[in-house]
Amino acid sequence: MRIAKTIAETRAILAEARRTGRTLGFVPTMGWLHEGHLSLVDVAKSHSSCVVMSIFVNPLQFGPREDYGSYPRDLERDAALAAGRGVDLLFAPGPEEMYPAENLTFVEVMKVTEGLCGASRPGHFRGVATVVAKLLNIVTPDVLVLGQKDAQQAVVLQQMVKDLNFPCRVIVAATVREEDGLAMSSRNRYLSPEERSHAALLSQALHDAAQSIRTGERDAGRIRERMEQSLRASPLIRVDYISITDSERLEEMKQVSGKILIALAAFVGGTRLIDNVMLEV
Ligand code: PAF
Repeated sequence: MRIAKTIAETRAILAEARRTGRTLGFVPTMGWLHEGHLSLVDVAKSHSSCVVMSIFVNPLQFGPREDYGSYPRDLERDAALAAGRGVDLLFAPGPEEMYPAENLTFVEVMKVTEGLCGASRPGHFRGVATVVAKLLNIVTPDVLVLGQKDAQQAVVLQQMVKDLNFPCRVIVAATVREEDGLAMSSRNRYLSPEERSHAALLSQALHDAAQSIRTGERDAGRIRERMEQSLRASPLIRVDYISITDSERLEEMKQVSGKILIALAAFVGGTRLIDNVMLEV
């Protein structure tokens, strides 16, 4: 595996890969890799002959009181994991490479960014869309692989790729979970052992909601209420939102039908975690 820290080096390596007929699969990350990220590498490998991963903690997508400063960073550890899984090129720029001067150009995806995490994290998706647009222009992949764990991010980026005609296909890969159901996330490392044991309630609430729909429940208000109730059982959990929406436009539903997304964000102690399930009614 090669590691490139500059845009120029990345472009040169990938131009050479293209010349030899290789197709590019791309997995953008913010590092502190876990099995969730590495499973995206497997998916990228099955759809391309050269896998590029980026590791960049993007300041544009963090709010002023969020964890940009404390977000875990360990390039040596991440590089070993990425190489072990078969990444061909790791692009790991610093902030001065990605934003050498004040950034005055932003990509703003409308409507699908209004609810869910967009409502609680103003500017977050503008930062995500902007950095991913830059990364797509640097890497020019054939296939972009994203995780279903960040369901709204996947919807936003699919919309951006379509609207701005990025010449790549987007693949959204399944969430990888710990044994007790907790969705893998770099932020899980912030949890104390006690918080970690309570965090499993999030996926449990989603699982129970999906199960109630499978057995005939259609009233979104009732489903949401039951989820809130089961999460209130833990004094360590504070719900940020529970959304029940269609899976494409992310519009809240009163009666569930078609392809739906049940998504939640909650603070477990001081750590904000997200998770979701998608199902077809
Ligand atoms: O999902 C993430 O880790 C980030 O939002 C992404 C897509 C790498 C953009 O910074």
